Amino acid sequence: MVAAKLRVGIVGLGQRGLQHLGALHRISEAQVVALCDPFPENLAEEKLRRFAAGFSLSRVRTCNRFEQLLEAGLDAVYFCIPPGRHQGELVRAAEGGLHIFAEKPVSLFLDEALEMERAIQRAGVVATVGFQQRHDAWHLAIRDFLRGKRLVMLTQVTNGALESHSVKHTRTEELGGPANRVWAANFAWSGSTVVEAGIHPLDLMRFWGGEVAWVRATYVPRAPEDIVDGGDNPCGYAVTFGFESGAVATLSLTRLRQTFWGDGYQDISWDHGHLKIEAEGPVAYYYDGPYPPPGRVEAAALRHPLQTGPRGDSTLAIGQAFVEAARAGDTSRLLNTFSSSMNSHSAVLGANVSDQLGGEKVELGELINHPKYAPYRKKPGEGRTAVRPYLHLRRASCPPTPSTTSTTRPGT
Ligand SMILES: NC(=O)c1ccc[n+]([C@@H]2O[C@H](COP(=O)([O-])OP(=O)(O)OC[C@H]3O[C@@H](n4cnc5c(N)ncnc54)[C@H](O)[C@@H]3O)[C@@H](O)[C@H]2O)c1
Repeated sequence: MVAAKLRVGIVGLGQRGLQHLGALHRISEAQVVALCDPFPENLAEEKLRRFAAGFSLSRVRTCNRFEQLLEAGLDAVYFCIPPGRHQGELVRAAEGGLHIFAEKPVSLFLDEALEMERAIQRAGVVATVGFQQRHDAWHLAIRDFLRGKRLVMLTQVTNGALESHSVKHTRTEELGGPANRVWAANFAWSGSTVVEAGIHPLDLMRFWGGEVAWVRATYVPRAPEDIVDGGDNPCGYAVTFGFESGAVATLSLTRLRQTFWGDGYQDISWDHGHLKIEAEGPVAYYYDGPYPPPGRVEAAALRHPLQTGPRGDSTLAIGQAFVEAARAGDTSRLLNTFSSSMNSHSAVLGANVSDQLGGEKVELGELINHPKYAPYRKKPGEGRTAVRPYLHLRRASCPPTPSTTSTTRPGT
């Protein structure tokens, strides 16, 4: 229970860390007291102010090393670093009794994610993962509408352009990664488009459809001549998720170069209807007249727009939920905890494993526990040698974080 403002530190002030800084700066029950990033330009006050208007570093500790962040007297830490760059910081934070907000995916390696979860459970701290789309008013209305219905199929098709990935704030060119800092296009840094981006729609499907039991996936590798600046992620992904309820979900993603085209399609079907997200909001299509119908059923009678609340800033909303939960020591205020998010992580990491095993059906319970999957759970450098590498992909290496120095701002 925290009586005063929640004292928050942020690790990683890049694209996402800056968005969280902007949100936390607007939450009156939170106070950002420390910021950590290995690269000094990411801690410059002028840059931070572009994302958090009026933010001042005068009473904020800035540092380049995590250990120095811990000295700031924190209640909670946000982790917003590339998912392959964790080196035990989150576990140390939990062991130190700090509440945790971790950006998705929390790791590219299941063993590491499981170790984080165990530390959080042991410490009994409040912890969540950045699935802010659950807080979108449209998605909440869909959840309420589908409650109690028997879901059959969930379909998400996303066609994306490789060039739509952002230039990130990590100096990947100095860390053995892509020269252009577009690390979301690189397999070693992002863990594939399914893991980096597909985890959002998959997590929403779980929000509506419950737990995933198994996954089966086939990826289409990028041709070697199509790989530029380390953008070696597959160009197509066909993934099937089986839910414990018996429902089946399809996630179909493309990330093509030189197309500059993006579109998508979404459908959720239950046993007596379809739900679609249209330009003005979610719309359910179902028949609610006498059955069998006395005459011809007009298409217009089937269309039922859902009543939704106003759509706000979902990053602000998940931040508010986390701050409230951490101050009260009460996870029931969250729409997802770190532990409840593990099923989303296992499902997308399991998709990679399935593809590497030629499209094998991967039961998530076995993926977490069975010795046959042990090599696929491990982090490189921890004996992960039996895994067949992507045959057609050039992987950039992801070496350890360089040692750096710390600075403490006057007045802290
Ligand atoms: N929830 C969302 O919608 C959403 C959106 C974007 C990114 N993300 C996630 O946020 C995470 C960060 O992505 P990003 O887009 O901000 O990347 P980014 O490269 O723009 O920013 C990462 C920041 O972390 C810093 N950093 C790297 N290693 C560090 C370390 N060991 N300690 C401290 N700081 C370190 C970098 O210097 C950089 O400033 C990723 O997991 C990404 O998937 C989530």
